[in-house]
Amino acid sequence: MAAMDAPFYDVNLSYEDNYAKGPFGAFAAALEGRAGAGAATSAAETAETAATAEASSETFLGLPINLPFGIPAGPLLNSRFTDAAFLMGFDIAVYKTVRSRPWPCNQFPNVLSVHPRGASIDPEGSEKDEGVLADSDYGTDPGRISISNSFGVPSQDPDVWQPDMAAAVAHAGAGQVLVGSFQGSRTPGMSDEAYIADCVTTARLVQETGAKVIEMNTSCPNEGHNRLLCHDPALVGRICDAVKNEIGDTPFMIKLAYLPQEEQVEQMVRSTAAHGTVQALCTINTISCRLVDAQGNQALPGAGRDRSGVCGAAIREAGLTMVRRVAGVRERLGASFDIVGVGGVTTPADYAAYREAGAAAVMSATGAMWNPRLARHIKAARA
Ligand SMILES: Cc1cc2nc3c(=O)[nH]c(=O)nc-3n(C[C@H](O)[C@H](O)[C@H](O)COP(=O)(O)O)c2cc1C
Repeated sequence: MAAMDAPFYDVNLSYEDNYAKGPFGAFAAALEGRAGAGAATSAAETAETAATAEASSETFLGLPINLPFGIPAGPLLNSRFTDAAFLMGFDIAVYKTVRSRPWPCNQFPNVLSVHPRGASIDPEGSEKDEGVLADSDYGTDPGRISISNSFGVPSQDPDVWQPDMAAAVAHAGAGQVLVGSFQGSRTPGMSDEAYIADCVTTARLVQETGAKVIEMNTSCPNEGHNRLLCHDPALVGRICDAVKNEIGDTPFMIKLAYLPQEEQVEQMVRSTAAHGTVQALCTINTISCRLVDAQGNQALPGAGRDRSGVCGAAIREAGLTMVRRVAGVRERLGASFDIVGVGGVTTPADYAAYREAGAAAVMSATGAMWNPRLARHIKAARA
């Protein structure tokens, strides 16, 4: 069991403080090392990263990549976080989802530790509706960490995030890729046409930064209670048609939540990747659970926060199931696109399991937050 590092996102601080002062722990040390203020990485670790770069013949959406492993949309708030991720050997860094306009963050706290009854949350079971214990006890084992995150997808103004994302793109090393993630902003009463136009505008703003790969989050709320955009494959298809028309040859990836039925996956594939508008499906996002404290009361403060997305070790099985489901549909339809596996990757064995399940690339949010050396551990395990 690896010793617990300080997470590079400090869960005891607000999102705004993390944005202004982060990253922390080993990620901060990596940035200091780059600035010459201290030895952030050992010579052996640096040599290991360089050796991986030279040895690799792998690609990610047609781009050379040292190891198709990285950090998905979320914990990398700005270019200081993505710079540190690259320095720590995460070769794919997704810049946290941006919007066409400034958007506030949910009330603090935004992260809690969650403790399901068993090792996993069954995405089709009743535990997620009955209540899962959530508190601030993060334990001591980064391999078993599960959390909930409740941010509401905040965004800076494009005038702020565009130059910062452009810097993030420019700082990727050889064999590394910065992905720009965005989502549309659905406001009350907005027509589908206006929503699609907002998605297209935001995709164009991301493309203007020079991002080599663009991702759209479809695991965001759509009209109706507990309905996500990815529950409406026809609308996702219309958005992807319009976005692809705007961004041309730039590889386009969509982020999907867990979909319980193969038929839902098939409809999604048919309306997106099967006719070439989308080059990769990235899955899964968090699993929505009702969170309770030790007394059974709502764990997160505020209206509309009785449920929140769970991620980390508890959703690994769900993520692997979804990757196999998407791979099965791809084979049955004879379609050609990549799968990016996300959900509960906390060890080198988890990386291998996702590759085995059909993922061309793998990413870890929670696992990387609590083990900033995870990419190096995976590279060492493969060597
Ligand atoms: C702190 C945090 C913030 C997140 N924010 C976003 C986001 O802005 N956009 C998005 O598509 N997913 C977001 N996610 C979801 C992750 O990309 C990922 O799908 C999910 O956490 C499952 O992976 P994991 O088990 O490795 O954490 C976030 C996750 C975390 C932990």
